[in-house]
Amino acid sequence: MKPRAMKPSDGIAWVTGGSSGIGEALARRLAGEGWTVVISARSAGKLEDIAKAYTGRGRIIAHAVDLTDGQGVEDAVTAIEEAHGAIALAVLNAGIYLSVNAENPSFEDYKKTFDVNLSGTAACLCALTPRMSDRRSGQIAIVSSATAFGGMPTSSAYGASKAALVNMAGCLRIELHRYGVLCQVITPGFVETPAQDDNAFPKPFMVSAETAAKRIASGLKSKRFEITFPRRFTWALKGIYALPYSWSLGLVRKQTGWDKPV
Ligand SMILES: NC(=O)c1ccc[n+]([C@@H]2O[C@H](COP(=O)([O-])OP(=O)(O)OC[C@H]3O[C@@H](n4cnc5c(N)ncnc54)[C@H](OP(=O)(O)O)[C@@H]3O)[C@@H](O)[C@H]2O)c1
Repeated sequence: MKPRAMKPSDGIAWVTGGSSGIGEALARRLAGEGWTVVISARSAGKLEDIAKAYTGRGRIIAHAVDLTDGQGVEDAVTAIEEAHGAIALAVLNAGIYLSVNAENPSFEDYKKTFDVNLSGTAACLCALTPRMSDRRSGQIAIVSSATAFGGMPTSSAYGASKAALVNMAGCLRIELHRYGVLCQVITPGFVETPAQDDNAFPKPFMVSAETAAKRIASGLKSKRFEITFPRRFTWALKGIYALPYSWSLGLVRKQTGWDKPV
């Protein structure tokens, strides 16, 4: 069977990082399309509030789990499927941004970033891919970032984790194809969410979390590998990084103001 985009009649949706920002908006959007959506994050109270407040079509159900606990994630997926049915669509969205600078880098911040963004996503994949492969059906979308395309100042931890996720999704896209499971990657530009509050960077073409959710929900209905938006920003960035490194990295250095002497 060929991989295909899942529909609400195929099972339930699972959105990680569903307690705020893009994940919360996407959960509402998918529920509005008729999905039963389980949202996960560490903050159980926030998840419950979102689930209770939702009164539209479909359903939102809270299930708290810390993605850095591999066994906890396996247990959560088992419990979710036993209670609500097979996960047909998983959007692995949970992630953190910690600014790391070369002058005063923090090993803890590198480690935290990789633990949540990379190991947390890997924990979800370990729980999901055997189940979906067995069922010969399913769809997994991994939320990366346009930062994955190439070097950005203060993003050596975040950008590295997000670039690794693009690679991870590519590997799984190839492997899962013969099991009828669709794997996609999502590479947003700037989205207005709590994660951006501490980011002092210029944020060209920033979109709302609702717009991001709309773009993602639309991309999830297709089979294309990459869901990227806003395209006027992400395609321009891709164009820059397609140049030789000496040009592209110099250009980004200038555009971000990192060409000024210290
Ligand atoms: N905002 C942007 O401009 C932008 C751009 C490109 C990509 N992205 C990516 O989009 C995703 C969502 O970002 P956002 O902007 O919506 O951020 P956000 O509002 O800060 O949401 C992050 C979510 O991840 C959850 N989370 C963090 N650590 C976790 C852990 N250890 N276990 C389980 N859940 C955890 C948070 O909930 P708890 O704290 O309750 O656990 C929260 O629900 C991230 O992967 C981010 O990198 C964002």
